[in-house]
Amino acid sequence: MNRTMLTDEAIKRWDKHAEFFTANYTELGDKARIVYLNPTILPLMEDVKGKNVLDAGCGEGYLSRMLAERGANVTAVDYSKKMLEIAKTRTDNNTNITYHYGNCEDLHFLKDNQFDLIISNMVIQDLQDYQAAIQEMFRLLKEGGQFIFSILHTCFITPNSGWVRNEDGEKLFWKVEKYFYEGAYEQNFPADADDKVVYYHRTLSSYVKAIRKAGFTLMDMEEPKPTEDVLKKYPELKEDFNCADFIIFICEK
Ligand SMILES: C[S@@+](CC[C@H](N)C(=O)[O-])C[C@H]1O[C@@H](n2cnc3c(N)ncnc32)[C@H](O)[C@@H]1O
Repeated sequence: MNRTMLTDEAIKRWDKHAEFFTANYTELGDKARIVYLNPTILPLMEDVKGKNVLDAGCGEGYLSRMLAERGANVTAVDYSKKMLEIAKTRTDNNTNITYHYGNCEDLHFLKDNQFDLIISNMVIQDLQDYQAAIQEMFRLLKEGGQFIFSILHTCFITPNSGWVRNEDGEKLFWKVEKYFYEGAYEQNFPADADDKVVYYHRTLSSYVKAIRKAGFTLMDMEEPKPTEDVLKKYPELKEDFNCADFIIFICEK
């Protein structure tokens, strides 16, 4: 498949799975967002009142709505028409969010240097041309603005990674394979069904190089882990918690 075909196919699958993917979302997102992502990214975006914020790959828009509630002027972009449809039905008309249909690799309809902050929550690993997307975010940010993005942890979530189990199905250890493979791979979605989504794997150094090449300074990285309080609420996570599922990059223009 060529580049456009791969992106088209990936988006076709997002459209197809949009209802299922967002069915368990609350106003705070799904469990992964509540447990891992929100506690790490929200404190990084506390002071957004009056700021122009881009939610790049907004999905059903929970983060856009949280940011708008905190007083941000939110521009939200997604390349799945179905996701945008769901986002709009979940968003009050008076909320300060403008939704756009667009590919994060080329957001030509948005002007240079217009955002104070860009968040892209679990999207960049879904993009064929992640380098183009990171460059786009640099173009769109004001000088001094931050680009924060989270992805599946590239060191632990790789093609063919997963639990190795004994004959009784008990988890033995988490297996990582094909770390140095770079490109598209399919992942069962939901995990126990035949349907698949398209993800892209790249090494950690490739991400860091792309960030630097775009012109950003990499200010920090986070590897979210659940707090003791969260683990009390979701005790089943204790068993799964042996490596980081997510990594977050904090970049500055
Ligand atoms: C894992 S979901 C995350 C959605 C949202 N940020 C959240 O945290 O709930 C990934 C989203 O990226 C969108 N997406 C995939 N490829 C895209 C692209 N090239 N441009 C813009 N959005 C894209 C999908 O449609 C989907 O809504």
